[in-house]
Amino acid sequence: MCGIIGYVGSRKASEVITEGLKRLEYRGYDSVGIAVAQGNSIDLRKDKGMVNPVAESMRFLDVSGTLALGHVRWATHGVPCKENAHPFIDCTRTIVLAHNGVIENYSELKDELKKAGHRFSSETDSEVVVHLVEEERKKMPPLKAFMAAVRKLKGSYALLCTVADGAETLYCARRNSPLVLGVGKGEMFAASDIPAMLAYTKTFVPLEEGDIAVLSRNGYKVYDANGKEAVRKSITVEWSLDMAEKGGYPHFMLKEINDQKHFVHESLAADVTNARAMVAGHEAIDIIACGTSYHAGTILKILLSRELGKRAEAFIASEYPFVANPGKKTLVIAISQSGETADTMQAVKFAKSRGSKVLSLTNVVDSSITRISDEVVYLNAGPEISVAATKTFTSQAAVIYKLVSNPGPGQERLAAIPSLIEKAMAQESAIRAVAAKIADKKDIFFIGRGLNYPVAMEGALKLKEISYLHAEAYAGGELKHGPLSLIEKGVPVIAVAPKDESLPKLFGNIKEVKARGAYVVALTDDEAVRNEADVSIPLPPAADATLYPFPEIIILQLLAYHVSVLRGINPDRPRNLAKSVTVE
Ligand code: AGP
Repeated sequence: MCGIIGYVGSRKASEVITEGLKRLEYRGYDSVGIAVAQGNSIDLRKDKGMVNPVAESMRFLDVSGTLALGHVRWATHGVPCKENAHPFIDCTRTIVLAHNGVIENYSELKDELKKAGHRFSSETDSEVVVHLVEEERKKMPPLKAFMAAVRKLKGSYALLCTVADGAETLYCARRNSPLVLGVGKGEMFAASDIPAMLAYTKTFVPLEEGDIAVLSRNGYKVYDANGKEAVRKSITVEWSLDMAEKGGYPHFMLKEINDQKHFVHESLAADVTNARAMVAGHEAIDIIACGTSYHAGTILKILLSRELGKRAEAFIASEYPFVANPGKKTLVIAISQSGETADTMQAVKFAKSRGSKVLSLTNVVDSSITRISDEVVYLNAGPEISVAATKTFTSQAAVIYKLVSNPGPGQERLAAIPSLIEKAMAQESAIRAVAAKIADKKDIFFIGRGLNYPVAMEGALKLKEISYLHAEAYAGGELKHGPLSLIEKGVPVIAVAPKDESLPKLFGNIKEVKARGAYVVALTDDEAVRNEADVSIPLPPAADATLYPFPEIIILQLLAYHVSVLRGINPDRPRNLAKSVTVE
């Protein structure tokens, strides 16, 4: 997704912005730009490409000035190119603006502005906003003009804007797209999220839906959606910069896989009291999520049904409005590590429109989803930079297990999870050996039953999204209903086969594929399975069989990571993907 950052203070603004943009790179982007206010003029530099080469070629750091804004763009309207890169400048070249989100009514606004004589340089939706501000600025002072322009927008936006009038003021606005203020001494920051500002401050003010903020080196003011001055709570985060850095690992993904043994303690400490009361108060529970979070949601569905006797269903969020019929009696549990996924946000809004209560599990404090939920449980997994979700999946699972476990023995059994994770981590050399055997294969199958099936689904997603190999997961019993025809000599089948109640049946499926020449990799702690498989990766035995998903997913994350690296791919930034998908 796009990322924006703004600064006003006494530092060299081009340095602050360029550094901040580097910390936003993980959001996935294709072009980059910076604009620096210099009294009554603006120095605007932007191009298609990555931050370092563009900053070099356009000499970002040559620009002096103490107020600037910057942007990394993930294309939604218009191809990646210089003209479509942000920030955008108005016809008078004294107003500049960067935008994250989608302006849904941009075409009618653009027509009106063109009729008023405005000249456009891009095919984007975002550019209409700077010309709107310019049009309003003809009639009123900058802040009022910015507010009037914002009021005309429909859709999602995080906006940063400044007018080169010597006032050194940064105007910010947010709706359905994240924007956080960073509070410094004699300086102010604003960015899509916290890591971009961590080098300068640990005090942040997340803006609320519809908020407009005015920043100067003397501080900030916030106005709510009705234009009334508002007070917003500030938060202090303990995320040191290195937490958002790689910490000595070659990739964020490997750091975050290794982080899990620590952060899972934080997640298991989550307060689920109110959430458990909400679950207890509802018979029907709809779970909505996307991607990896959907796989965690599928685990939740199984546990709610089996452990609490609830009627629960997991839905892919983008499908939910077309296939579900929630009502006042339905509890909707939304799972989204970023708290910004548009598909999940829309599904939550649909459920709320039907009168459902909404409980959200998310990793980002004050993210958009928290603002439309009745109850929130934070994952406390720390920032996840790699596009591939790893620690946030495990943290989601930890919170889910706590949610369905009664205090006392039920929750005490969860204390075994961190050591199961650590023991799985210890298998990295065996995992690397398997990675070498499958890295050149075309199609790879994952099979599992019961709780191991959503783990197999997640293992397949991890592998395909960062290694570009085709991988699919099937419930073990499903193979014979069709997919078995794809199994031939040498096709790798990864069997998630712990010693639990489903193993006897899954063992039959392993034999099925072996008989057709498959190359079977078994994640197992069972002797017979080990003997049947071509190669096995040891699973640490779990006293409580429902806890096997934790060591299983660690192994599958490491397997995907090592295959990706063997294939010469950067697992942190897989092609075509973004960390937070804030468009539908
Ligand atoms: C997982 O590795 C992907 N990055 C993606 O499937 C992700 O899980 C999905 O987009 C949902 O994101 P969320 O949890 O932030 O809503």
